[in-house]
Amino acid sequence: MKYRTFGKLGIQGSAFGLGCMRFNGPASGDSIIDESKAIGLIRRAIDGGVTYLDTAYVYLDRTSEIVVGKALEGGYRDKVTIATKMPAEAVHNRQEMENLLSEELRKLRTDHIDFYLMHGIDREKWEYFKSIGAPEFFDDMKKAGKIRFKCFSFHGPYEEFEYILRDYDWDMVQIQYNFMDVDNQAGTRGLELAGSLGIPVVIMEGLLGGRLAKAPSNVQALYDAFPVKRTPVEWAFRWLCDHPQVATVLSGCNEAEQIDQNLAIFDTVEAGIMTDAEKKLMDDVRRAYISRTRIGCTGCRYCMPCPNGVNIPGVFSAWNQVSLYDTDPRHSWDLQRILKNDEGANRCVECGACEAACPQHLGIIEGLKAAWAELT
Ligand SMILES: NC(=O)c1ccc[n+]([C@@H]2O[C@H](COP(=O)([O-])OP(=O)(O)OC[C@H]3O[C@@H](n4cnc5c(N)ncnc54)[C@H](OP(=O)(O)O)[C@@H]3O)[C@@H](O)[C@H]2O)c1
Ligand code: SF4
Ligand code: SF4
Repeated sequence: MKYRTFGKLGIQGSAFGLGCMRFNGPASGDSIIDESKAIGLIRRAIDGGVTYLDTAYVYLDRTSEIVVGKALEGGYRDKVTIATKMPAEAVHNRQEMENLLSEELRKLRTDHIDFYLMHGIDREKWEYFKSIGAPEFFDDMKKAGKIRFKCFSFHGPYEEFEYILRDYDWDMVQIQYNFMDVDNQAGTRGLELAGSLGIPVVIMEGLLGGRLAKAPSNVQALYDAFPVKRTPVEWAFRWLCDHPQVATVLSGCNEAEQIDQNLAIFDTVEAGIMTDAEKKLMDDVRRAYISRTRIGCTGCRYCMPCPNGVNIPGVFSAWNQVSLYDTDPRHSWDLQRILKNDEGANRCVECGACEAACPQHLGIIEGLKAAWAELT
């Protein structure tokens, strides 16, 4: 296992951090998490050199922290740093924040949390956290020794990331980042900004939740043609670890084989080791994924609202995502949300109002028909 320095904190952590959000339930299907299997996976990772565990209050129906706590009995707690999170939805005042942190400490069977994060914030959630005194609460808990580092995880546009990052004395930040997200969310700009401020960056969704683990045929052809043979997972992690600002790459593993494979990969990856040819390969791979885009919708929403309730950019985004990563539409969260809200292309009556408004001059009506036929 390679170990990396956490920016201005100066501490060392394993390059591979175990995400504790994706453990499976037992085969019987009568519970959300197979506890003994999950405990085995966590300990296997720690025995292999992992020193960073990422969980959250809400993960796995609030059972993830409990399982992590159990896995860390018997001397394992001292071998790791724990990251867990406070969700904005669960707290409205200081008392509730105190109660929540106490509950998390109890579940994790520990007297302190190493990395305590405001969970999945954007600017709106950050303003909310400020309005209920969360920054002062984090300051006080750090002084009291109940948390070591004040952190946040982020989902939102770059501008909001920069605003939040500069608005408080953060110790660490967790962002979604991978070779496909260079211009998405915090993106490369966000990673570099955090690095320039000395704030260590922990990576989530490094494999886009597993979508980058299986390459579609045009991408696999590029990997196959490269003289050095590596799996798509190894390429993705290698690319991430090449960035010196990255402290730890989280990966949620469901199987012992995935833990073992990732342990082996993170034995070899380091910042600044990718050759120019390897970097070019990853640029080509990104372009090969993007070439699978089905329609050039930019999500500008000029066409919205549709008088008949079609979520036009939502349908196109789901269509593109499914095509890009060659995923089964039934596993598309975007599509599930559209179906749940009854915003599908089946509502279109072909009035044409959207096409007149689209700055990309897209054939929206025909596009919606094709998208819906494929997605459903
Ligand atoms: N704070 C936040 O807002 C937030 C949001 C998202 C995630 N997170 C945290 O970040 C962690 C990492 O994110 P993530 O779980 O989405 O990470 P990820 O690495 O992008 O995806 C994990 C998935 O990748 C696949 N995988 C992992 N190793 C593999 C291997 N060696 N070979 C093949 N497939 C492999 C597995 O997919 P299969 O299940 O298909 O096998 C696994 O479930 C989470 O567990 C969670 O702790 C935090
Ligand atoms: S053409 Fe269809 S999608 Fe476009 S505005 Fe009319 S009903 Fe909505
Ligand atoms: S106006 Fe065109 S590009 Fe913009 S969201 Fe609608 S379909 Fe997409």
